[in-house]
Amino acid sequence: MLPLLAFAGGGFAGGSGARAADAGPPGDAAGRGAYLFDAAGCLGCHTNDKEGGEPLAGGRALATPFGTFYTPNITPDPVSGIGRWSDADFIRAFREGVRPDGAALFPAFPYASYTRMTDRDLLDLKAYLFSRPAVAAPNRPHDLTPPFSWRFLVPAWQWLYLTPGPVPDDPARPPAWNRGRYLVDALGHCGECHTPRSLLGGMEAGRYLAGNPDGPDGDKVPGITAAEGKGIGGWSDGDLTLLLETGLTPEGDVVGGAMGEVVRNSTSKLTAEDRTAIAAYLKTVPAKE
Ligand code: HEC
Ligand code: HEC
Repeated sequence: MLPLLAFAGGGFAGGSGARAADAGPPGDAAGRGAYLFDAAGCLGCHTNDKEGGEPLAGGRALATPFGTFYTPNITPDPVSGIGRWSDADFIRAFREGVRPDGAALFPAFPYASYTRMTDRDLLDLKAYLFSRPAVAAPNRPHDLTPPFSWRFLVPAWQWLYLTPGPVPDDPARPPAWNRGRYLVDALGHCGECHTPRSLLGGMEAGRYLAGNPDGPDGDKVPGITAAEGKGIGGWSDGDLTLLLETGLTPEGDVVGGAMGEVVRNSTSKLTAEDRTAIAAYLKTVPAKE
């Protein structure tokens, strides 16, 4: 009861000192983590549902221009999953893209975005994952073309494209805007698909959310800036929140492919307040060609 009262009394509207990351539904650590898990869209990548794989046991194939990644098992199984990871191991993987054995993680795991999550959110997410059933399912090696298969080159990529750590709230903006930015940039990792990439596969900071001709599965990903005539410039806040809730576009189409999965696993499960916050933030992202 107490956390609920605290939420009603302070939370989203932002009592003094509230941060974007502190918003969202109340609950214990694992309950809060369950919501973050949805907002961050972990399920789809880490579940091989096409071949009847258990949730979070990994093995889903992700085809990229660099080869095929097979996602690892992130259930609490101590041998094939992450059951032996400490809190510090977990934070380091998301913040710095480094495994407990010191090897770098490939950025196909979108930690260039998740690095912005707060420590508290990361630990709540871990509490949720560790409350799920352990599944013994060994990891399948990736099938990548050299030099992209060379893990020892990944730190160079990180040096170029990874800015570790949360971004402080902008005090000049309303709490909903800051919450929206956190949902878009940290949790929803929208830029991982909607921002074009350089030849080395880094998000081009100067063309943030401007659209990506080579998205996942070879799909063209539209821009979602406020560019007039393209992007979402002509969309109302209601158009945006409806799409995030149901997948329906203002033209009456339903988004498919990768975005269909984002809506199904992630944005449809958010609170209405959080969808409104995403719309409030996106409407302020400047247009890019
Ligand atoms: C776009 C697909 C994608 C999404 C979304 C994603 N992951 Fe991953 N994740 C991967 C891939 C691919 C790897 C393997 C990277 C490597 O081998 O270096 C990975 C690696 C990991 C690892 C390291 C496991 C190990 O044994 O080394 C953890 C932990 C993890 N992900 C947890 C999560 C959680 C929790 C979420 C949601 C917040 C998430 N991932 C979202 C693709 C994804
Ligand atoms: C895994 C890749 C991926 C991620 C992550 C992703 N999107 Fe998308 N998004 C797409 C694709 C692909 C389309 C085009 C879908 C179609 O036309 O059927 C799309 C379409 C859209 C559209 C409709 C644009 C239009 O002009 O029709 C909006 C709005 C949108 N995404 C917002 C978001 C937001 C907000 C997030 C983060 C919460 C996000 N997307 C995360 C791939 C992604």
